[in-house]
Amino acid sequence: MRKQVRISLIGAGYVGLTTAVGFSKKGFKTILMDIDKEKVERINSGESPIYEPGLREMLKELRREGNIEATTNLDYAVSESEITFICVPTPSRRNGDTDLRYIEDSSKAIGKALRLKEHYHVVAVKSTVPPETTERVVIPNLEEGSGKKAGPGFGVCMNPEFLREGSALEDFLNPDRIVIGELDPRSGETLAFLYRGFAAPVLRTSLKVAEMIKYASNSFLAMKITYANEIGNICKKLGIDAYEVMKGVGLDSRISPHFLRAGIGFGGSCFPKDVLALVSKAEKLGYNASLLKEVINVNSRQPYRMIDLLKKRIGSLKGKRIAVLGLAFKPETDDVRESPALRIVSELIRQGAGVVAYDPKAMFNFRKAFPKIGYAESAKEALKGADACLVVTEWREFRDLTDDDFSAMRGSVIIEGRRALDPKKVDGFEGVCW
Ligand code: UGA
Repeated sequence: MRKQVRISLIGAGYVGLTTAVGFSKKGFKTILMDIDKEKVERINSGESPIYEPGLREMLKELRREGNIEATTNLDYAVSESEITFICVPTPSRRNGDTDLRYIEDSSKAIGKALRLKEHYHVVAVKSTVPPETTERVVIPNLEEGSGKKAGPGFGVCMNPEFLREGSALEDFLNPDRIVIGELDPRSGETLAFLYRGFAAPVLRTSLKVAEMIKYASNSFLAMKITYANEIGNICKKLGIDAYEVMKGVGLDSRISPHFLRAGIGFGGSCFPKDVLALVSKAEKLGYNASLLKEVINVNSRQPYRMIDLLKKRIGSLKGKRIAVLGLAFKPETDDVRESPALRIVSELIRQGAGVVAYDPKAMFNFRKAFPKIGYAESAKEALKGADACLVVTEWREFRDLTDDDFSAMRGSVIIEGRRALDPKKVDGFEGVCW
């Protein structure tokens, strides 16, 4: 069977789609399953339902070669593959707990599909799930649905993803490490076979350790950013540049220069949700994760620092026209989930300002949350007649803006929430931490 290992993936979101495209690129046949018919049709016509650098082109090529297909039929996806990845969303509940309903549904359905399979099959969880979920939720559902025992009847792994939006495909193809949590050696061997063409260390662990590695990694990175922000807030009071400070700090190899960019805090579909979920899991285990709680607190205050700075410069916001450049939670994505821009725009509106926003990719998604604000076709258009400008996402194209472009504003106040503008081309802007 070795040569023709086929992979099915349940859930065609960022993770499922990138993983499918990545494995197909490595020569495996993949079947993506999603309940969203429209998404499935788009993928089958070679179009990517999300924006991610390189994904569209690669998907088109792989569809032409017939290495990837999408379906709404889970039984078909499982029966036509030897390994199934669960890539469904694990959103937060209001109280911070992880909502496992899609994990429940998919593991039950995979279990049923396994009942009819004669050959050995491995189910691998890729979704980010709190420690113990694979053992306590996924395995019982698979066993009940299939009528087989995990281990002899089928294999189970937990294989966390470490993909960043905006460079997901690149991260998949060139990972720092591969973590395989395994129920038993046979399950782990089967999954390790998929990764033999990758030049990264493979760590084989228990299911629970793999789950925890993902949370510990994301929480550490969220904490590192928050640390940079806290130092940045102090730097601002001292009138110094947090980036200059962090350059000196990051040269210490024990610290490393990565994830020390101060600004308006982390957003996205992962860090905010995962830190909260770990705090909530710890609470259930009887531990108060106070450091992680403070990470959440500092981070949620950070976007409002831009508003405070703005008011210091232009006074009341009532009736003022504010240009907002960047809406995505980071560059190179159209994703606005937990983007600091949501808080900033909402606060601007609450204080009576008029907002004209521009983002190269994320306006369609942002419009769903804020249908009534103004949207411009370009950064230059957003700046026209504005009393002040807030730079919220560090898109590459903002570096090309010059004093000339900003001269179309009525006022002259420019505040950066992320390091985006080129100081050689634009005069007189200030940042939240610089
Ligand atoms: C993050 C992790 O980096 C991935 O390893 C992980 O797989 C993923 O979550 C996930 O759990 O699926 P992602 O949220 O896509 O990836 O993007 P990041 O590049 O980590 O950025 C997250 C947020 O932190 C962004 O809002 C970004 O602007 C902010 N950030 C990042 C900073 O404010 N400063 C930094 O120095 C770095």
